[in-house]
Amino acid sequence: MRSRPFTTSSRLALIFNFLSFPTRLRHYQTSASNLRPEMPRTALLIGANRGIGLNLARALSDQNWNVVASIRPQTKEVNDPSVQEIEAIASKILTLDLSEEKTIAAAAEQFGDGPLDMLINIAGIGPEPDNWYEHTAEILKEKFAINTVGPFLVVKHFHESLKKAEKGVIVNISSNAGSITMCKGEDLGYRVSKAALNMMTVTLAKEFQMNGDNIAVIALNPGYVATRLTNFRFRDNMEECIAGIVKVVDNIGLEQTGTFVDWRGETLPW
Ligand SMILES: NC(=O)c1ccc[n+]([C@@H]2O[C@H](COP(=O)([O-])OP(=O)(O)OC[C@H]3O[C@@H](n4cnc5c(N)ncnc54)[C@H](OP(=O)(O)O)[C@@H]3O)[C@@H](O)[C@H]2O)c1
Repeated sequence: MRSRPFTTSSRLALIFNFLSFPTRLRHYQTSASNLRPEMPRTALLIGANRGIGLNLARALSDQNWNVVASIRPQTKEVNDPSVQEIEAIASKILTLDLSEEKTIAAAAEQFGDGPLDMLINIAGIGPEPDNWYEHTAEILKEKFAINTVGPFLVVKHFHESLKKAEKGVIVNISSNAGSITMCKGEDLGYRVSKAALNMMTVTLAKEFQMNGDNIAVIALNPGYVATRLTNFRFRDNMEECIAGIVKVVDNIGLEQTGTFVDWRGETLPW
């Protein structure tokens, strides 16, 4: 039997199919990559130019995360050596100061329309003074502004980007010092600000659940490691803690939302 000759429209359909093949192949690759992700996930690290932030940025980048990092405008202006360290790791640098909401809003604009898979609120200020009576209203307000209000504003301004991720994760770097159960006194302002950060973690976790947002929120104690904040005192090894944190954050699902864990993944009491 003679095959039917190609009509003009069937020829056009053939050409169209041939030309659209690469597009269909790309679609196939995208859906396959949902099962076996090949595109790096994006992590935004707030306060990433030194200490825990810098070490975590390096470790996540080594694990094929696309690391976006924030530094303080004041630190960038003076060209602190830590700026070059994070610039060598991050794919994008955002400048923001947690005490200035407009800089956080501008950083979110600069981040753009893409999805954000993980936000890690690392930046914070340390425990001094030790004694309760040396605390002043100004000291308490500053601890609260940087360690609690700042991370809240970052969540607020990056919420839309987190919603665009297949699974959004927020990690608030807290501390044992924020646990009411573990409190032994001292570092009042720091403790109050971290306890409030913990409460913010649980409140956001519950609200996101109620609203059907696909975003998990946890509080994490990173270990007691040598950084500027601890005057380079330590009990735990930085490398071990960072490896532990990477493992923990990589495995956060909605089941973990609203929990308080340490760098080993062990649950801590509120
Ligand atoms: N180290 C520990 O043993 C330990 C234990 C428990 C919890 N933590 C928590 O871990 C986090 C990181 O601490 P770290 O030990 O790595 O301290 P660090 O070395 O002093 O680093 C602190 C980071 O926060 C940034 N930062 C401070 N104020 C900021 C502001 N107003 N706006 C934006 N960024 C600001 C700093 O930027 P600049 O460099 O520009 O100042 C720096 O990048 C903190 O939240 C801390 O409470 C640490």
